[in-house]
Amino acid sequence: MTAIDDIKSRIDIVDLVSETVKLRRSGKNYTGFCPFHTNTRTPAFVVFPESGTWRCFGQCNEGGDIFRFVMKKEGWDFPETLRFLAEKAGVQLEPVTPQRQQTEQVNERLQGLLEEAVNFYRHHLLQTPAGQPALAYLTKRGLTQATIETFGLGYAPEGWENSLQYFRGKGYSNDEMLRAGLVTERQEREGTYDRFRNRIMFPIRDAMGHMAGFGARILDPNDVPKFLNSPQTALFDKGRLLYGLDQARKMIRSQDQVVIVEGYLDVIVLHQAGFSNAVSPMGTALTEDQMRLLKRFTRRFVLALDPDAAGDKATLRGLEIARQSLDHNDEIAFDARGLLRHEARLQADVRVTTLPPGMDPDEVVLRDPEEWRKILEAAKPIVAHVMDTLAAGRDLEDPKTKTEVAAQVLPLIEDVPSPVERDTYRQRLARMLKVDVRALQGVAPAAAPGQRRKPVIKTERPGRRTQAIPATSGQRAAAMEAHCLHLLLRQPDIIYQVDRFLQQNGLGRFSEADFELSDHQQIVHLLLESMAQDRLEINKYLQENLPDSLEDTWQALTVDMTYGEPTSEKRFEDLVRTIMDLRLLKIDQSIQQIRFLQEDLQDQEENLDLNPYQELIGQSAQARNRLEKALAKPLIPD
Ligand code: UTP
Ligand code: MN
Repeated sequence: MTAIDDIKSRIDIVDLVSETVKLRRSGKNYTGFCPFHTNTRTPAFVVFPESGTWRCFGQCNEGGDIFRFVMKKEGWDFPETLRFLAEKAGVQLEPVTPQRQQTEQVNERLQGLLEEAVNFYRHHLLQTPAGQPALAYLTKRGLTQATIETFGLGYAPEGWENSLQYFRGKGYSNDEMLRAGLVTERQEREGTYDRFRNRIMFPIRDAMGHMAGFGARILDPNDVPKFLNSPQTALFDKGRLLYGLDQARKMIRSQDQVVIVEGYLDVIVLHQAGFSNAVSPMGTALTEDQMRLLKRFTRRFVLALDPDAAGDKATLRGLEIARQSLDHNDEIAFDARGLLRHEARLQADVRVTTLPPGMDPDEVVLRDPEEWRKILEAAKPIVAHVMDTLAAGRDLEDPKTKTEVAAQVLPLIEDVPSPVERDTYRQRLARMLKVDVRALQGVAPAAAPGQRRKPVIKTERPGRRTQAIPATSGQRAAAMEAHCLHLLLRQPDIIYQVDRFLQQNGLGRFSEADFELSDHQQIVHLLLESMAQDRLEINKYLQENLPDSLEDTWQALTVDMTYGEPTSEKRFEDLVRTIMDLRLLKIDQSIQQIRFLQEDLQDQEENLDLNPYQELIGQSAQARNRLEKALAKPLIPD
């Protein structure tokens, strides 16, 4: 997770803005008088909690996220704002202090030790008689020699001090072995012993490929536990790591999709079959940190869960990744409801697959890769999945069953942020149950029995039901922004042509104000800055001046095009169109929002002066016309 994302996830935009602006709820958003221009007539300043953004629909016609808000309010630059908000959020920005340098050195040494461990276990798997049963087992599970190599699998031999002696011979201290999680302290007397014995070893690396720890599976079916992971260490934080991500990140990006499975072997076998966008958590529920980590690479998540984890269909646990038997008290409940909420918060698209009964992904793909492909294609949005799962095998003609199913699905539907989707699901449910959609309004939306709901994340404000703007517009805008930058960064000087075109059509020049997300704004800012200087070549300038905190965003924006490089003309057309579409989207949002505001206030004030609102709408409509006109022309550079 980038520091920026981390900060955004911890600071509630409504709380932040409320410190200086008096806000009142207006539907699911909040409105107030814009703090950036003097105006006491129209509360044209809107905060959108869902997307974490704000916008002044009045004179400023500007908006952004929490960073932009503080920058504008305090007149600070981005780094200053970052420091300020980081402190407020309790996020460590980790300047390179001597202390930090030392931690890094220690971590590097521990990583070195873990790399030695990979070698040690690999040697025992491939080159010792004791490793033969493990190797045979892996082969039986369908793994090729090359796959075993790629994933660095190994075998921890039976015995208490094999690895301990080996690492000692390599110059590592007991303390270091402990801190790397390779040995365990004896309870009864001084000393340590090997943590992993007679187990198949799965090295676990962070997204960048640095060693973090191990997962270890039993060979002897009588041993417990079935899987033993590294303990929590400085390097191994299982809630923030995902198995296979280092190998999967490239394909996750190129496919714009991540597939989340449950087991190490599922990940490995899927990769081997060419589905290398698969990752898995490590025996715990998927955490929000993990989802955020994945969001750097894609917003499209497919959950492929073991059918045995689905448990009791009637309680909707089908969507829970958590294993009840494992200890994970502090995790978020990833039941259907939790997932929906995360989907909205992260502006992600979460889908769920249905696996054949009794089969794990590895078995399916080994049986028939085509079958796996079809299963992925058939993945359904959460609500649809729950509906179908609940309906499966039940007598929907029975009125009691109808009521039961409706009572379980309706609360979920109510959680869907987009009114259009909500409506679609209601109709779908009505069709499925063969009842009139109006009948569904009367069903008490009781929570399903046994449904776990842990109030872990603070997001919900009560009564955010009415809706002026579909949440998906924020999602679309974010994707469009990224697309713009993606195009722009491959050929920065195209901006001159773009600006010429915009100006010829009476439209404002391209600027960071076209973007809502702070990291995008920063990158545009840097880009424009780089073009205004002639000391360094543009890319060099960018590299030198890019703050660390934008490194990840930058990486995501500069990956190769999935479908090959466009020609310069195509790129121009695509870029201009996307910029104008972005502007249109914003204008439409603002018109909608102003109307909504006006209606909202009219309800409260009888003699409300409507002129300012009409004026605002008129201005927006004019801007819209200009854009439409320009869009109707052939989009070619002159
Ligand atoms: P499963 O028991 O479904 O195992 O646990 P699996 O991955 O299908 O393993 P195979 O196919 O029998 O080899 C799923 C995941 O849950 C975690 C592990 O990460 C495992 O991959 N788990 C399971 C644990 O962490 N501890 C356990 O005791 C069991
Ligand atoms: Mn399995």
